[in-house]
Amino acid sequence: MLNFQSKHASFEQRNQLIADRLPHAGSWILDVGSNTGFTTQFLGNLGHYALGVEKMEKEYATACGIAGQTSAFMHIGVSPAFFANSPEWSAILLLSVLHRIYAFDGEACMRDVLRQCGQKTAMLFVEGSTRHARYRDQGQPPPSFADQDVDAATAWHEELFREVLGDDWAVQSKHVLAHTKKEPQRILFHLTKTSRALDPLRLRPGDVIELDPARVGFLQFPEFHKLHRTTPASLGQAPPGDWDVVLDKDCFWGARYEGGRGQDIGMISLSNYHFLTALKQRFHEGKAWEDTAWLAWMRETAPSRYNTEQKIQKRLRFIEGLYDDCVSGRYRFSGDDLPLVNVGRLDRIAIEDGRHRICVAKAAGVARIAVKVNALHPDHRFAL
Ligand SMILES: C[S@@+](CC[C@H](N)C(=O)[O-])C[C@H]1O[C@@H](n2cnc3c(N)ncnc32)[C@H](O)[C@@H]1O
Repeated sequence: MLNFQSKHASFEQRNQLIADRLPHAGSWILDVGSNTGFTTQFLGNLGHYALGVEKMEKEYATACGIAGQTSAFMHIGVSPAFFANSPEWSAILLLSVLHRIYAFDGEACMRDVLRQCGQKTAMLFVEGSTRHARYRDQGQPPPSFADQDVDAATAWHEELFREVLGDDWAVQSKHVLAHTKKEPQRILFHLTKTSRALDPLRLRPGDVIELDPARVGFLQFPEFHKLHRTTPASLGQAPPGDWDVVLDKDCFWGARYEGGRGQDIGMISLSNYHFLTALKQRFHEGKAWEDTAWLAWMRETAPSRYNTEQKIQKRLRFIEGLYDDCVSGRYRFSGDDLPLVNVGRLDRIAIEDGRHRICVAKAAGVARIAVKVNALHPDHRFAL
């Protein structure tokens, strides 16, 4: 590989532009093609957690020499396989590296790497080259913009982002940076997923997210859509006060039949929710429904869904069918009628609506379910 001039003219400016746009303090950053590690280390020194990946042995070794407490390096050439099971990152940096992947591995591979990055973060920084030689020096055809034409190279990159990342992504800013004598200018693009453009990794009411149902640990009590009878739950209205505190309480059904109105508002741990206990007894321990405290309560209290024996049997068959579908992978959480969750402090996630589906998915060990975010506590720290 040709030598890369490790500090270009506006290197400090570029690193600062990136640092100023990271989504939060303590961001987790993947720096692809980290070379001797200066950008990785710069961000690590600012208190971020930065991992540089570099395919060249010598550059990687140099980088290891400057690794700090929160910056580290990996000696690997990234490929689509590298990203397949990677965690999600606060930001991914592709600084002057896409054109080298183009040069060495071809345009299709470069596009694939960019696509994969788009699936593992909501924020990308791409520094693009304007000089044909950097794309062609290993025998690949030149890109379709005029050599060294900054406007044309910008348009080419933007077209690439549109095609590969899709409409979900937007260029937030572009900077033309002074580079070297041979290539006077390169372009730095800052891209974010548009739905989160202002605050990329933070949830908003109405977001549909996928999560492991094991992360849902509470039941909202009372459910907000029962409190605000005229307000659709999907509007995300939360009552004032500490609605995400954990109540020392158990329940069989929820507010409607257990005196929810006028009581303390909060979250009940699902370990105190008798419906989930009954599911575990039935499906994990093989108990009869008749032997669960939950069904005994249902028979005694007779909420509308269970107020005749026929309705009870129908409902139990429904739950058994749902469980089988979840276990066999036939059940999909999709469509307009997704379960709703509220997100409180300390990652407390409570069921707002869809308790049967979420609890059955938990009992069946489903890996991921789609849910819609209803209310968010202003101090929540839940990140996707
Ligand atoms: C032009 S340098 C850019 C360095 C740094 N990102 C910057 O802009 O300051 C490109 C670096 O990417 C590395 N590289 C190229 N293809 C790579 C790949 N598939 N995986 C990891 N590193 C790669 C090269 O070895 C080189 O160190």
